[in-house]
This record gives sequence, structure tokens and C-alpha cells, in this order.
Amino acid sequence: MSSNVMTTVKCEKDLFCGVNMVKDLDNMTDLEKKHLPVITAPKSVRKGECFEVMVEVGKLMQHPNEPGHYIEFIDLYADHTYLTRVDLTAGRTCPIIKICLSLDHIHGKLRAYERCNLHGAWEGHTEIEVTD
Ligand SMILES: [Fe+2]
Repeated sequence: MSSNVMTTVKCEKDLFCGVNMVKDLDNMTDLEKKHLPVITAPKSVRKGECFEVMVEVGKLMQHPNEPGHYIEFIDLYADHTYLTRVDLTAGRTCPIIKICLSLDHIHGKLRAYERCNLHGAWEGHTEIEVTD
């Protein structure tokens, strides 16, 4: 008799189509609270100056962090311009990143994307202004 144990992990297929976003910030579901990347950043920064940005997944409701269910990475974009990716490891890293950015302009929002291995990609964003 084999000692192998087969574990079936159920993923939400519809959540893997496109990028998921919170539908109503004032009435969030538990799924949305667990997956929304929450960005903490200044409202206004000076062109070319370094500033700190923090992105937290699970800030509103803790997300699991175990091999079968975890956040795989967090990406940051200045509107649609790629800035960085931080890859994460189940159980060994927490889905919270702090990074210093230096922008010369932004046309739109600072956007964070995270990907959960069971619940797909999620976007959070915030307004930021770059001044001369
Ligand atoms: Fe998840």
C-alpha cells in the first residue's frame, strides 16, 4: 500500500480570468479583504526624490500563508509602467513589501498587483502626484 497522500487543492477558476478588483470599498467581501493590496504612499512627491511605498496583502483580513495557499508575488506599476516585482515564498515571506521609488512623472495611479495561487490576480491602487 502506498503511503503517498494526494491532496486536491480547489481553485476558483473565474478568479483567474483577468484582474480582480474590489467592487465596493464600503462593503467588501471577506475574499476582497484578504486579497486587496493596500498601498501606503505619500499623496504628493517631488520629481526624482526617493520615497517609501508599502504594499500589504491581508491588511484588512489576514490571508493564509502556507504551501497550499499563499501570495506568489507583488508587482508595482506607475499607472501602466512596470516598476518592480517581489516574489514571495509560502510560509517564509510575508505578503508585505516596502520599497523606495523615484518617479519623474505619473499619469494616473500607483498600482499594486498581487497573485494568490488559489484566487488569482488582484489590484489595489492609490492616487499620487509628482511635482517639480
Ligand atoms: Fe487567496
